[in-house]
Amino acid sequence: MRIYKTKNYDEMSRKAANIISAQMILKPESVLGLATGSSPIGTYKQLIEWYKKGDLDFSQIRSINLDEYKGLDASNDQSYAYFMRHNLFDHVNIQPANTYIPNGMEKDVEKECARYNKIIHKLGGIDLQLLGIGSNGHIGFNEPSDSFAKETHCVDLTNATIQANARFFDSIDEVPKQAYTTGIKNIMNAKHILLIANGEKKADALYRSLFGPITPACPASILQLHDDVSIVADEAALSEIIKINVNEDWL
Ligand code: F6R
Repeated sequence: MRIYKTKNYDEMSRKAANIISAQMILKPESVLGLATGSSPIGTYKQLIEWYKKGDLDFSQIRSINLDEYKGLDASNDQSYAYFMRHNLFDHVNIQPANTYIPNGMEKDVEKECARYNKIIHKLGGIDLQLLGIGSNGHIGFNEPSDSFAKETHCVDLTNATIQANARFFDSIDEVPKQAYTTGIKNIMNAKHILLIANGEKKADALYRSLFGPITPACPASILQLHDDVSIVADEAALSEIIKINVNEDWL
């Protein structure tokens, strides 16, 4: 595992975009596992800028998103499908047919999970999985629990997540209570994992994930078992780790 310390959100975003760019250049038909939320917005902006300069080509890239709210349609401006179009897909030359995201409107949970798992398997796995982290240690919408969920499943969002995500909605009552998410096994099967984190709110979760016990009570802690993980985080998100005097070679 490598931890890259950055001064702030902008530097985190540029560094993360650099790692994604390297992947895209080395393998133009890469399968990118993508995330939504506040953390990756700057990374996507940077990728768009480099695409516009002619440095990046998305024409053969395939993307598979981590999650989607259950009950939200792709045209709803709070859906993750909308987020991805607005923050990345509409601005680069990715082929819409090569972008995948769970269908939040599918009521048949088993059917949707099976469909999504099939897509991941058919794509041959994920080359680079971009992750944010919840302040409760969730990755994707794999919430703290007493076991690790393997593949795509439907989750009941925890109150902490509903409250954290309420900032994007007019009221907390509008935040969906369930979501489809890829599972821990899907994430862990990615060849390379890139986790980004910024701000003090993430400091405790990041510390527990990287240096605490490996437990489903902190889902991101499973990343300690992955062979190829890059963490790009700003000083505030790393503040709890810096306190334990971790060997400077790590940062
Ligand atoms: C989003 C996702 C979530 C977020 C996490 C952090 O697709 O899978 O795990 O990465 O909730 O969200 P932000 O970046 O908004 O702090």
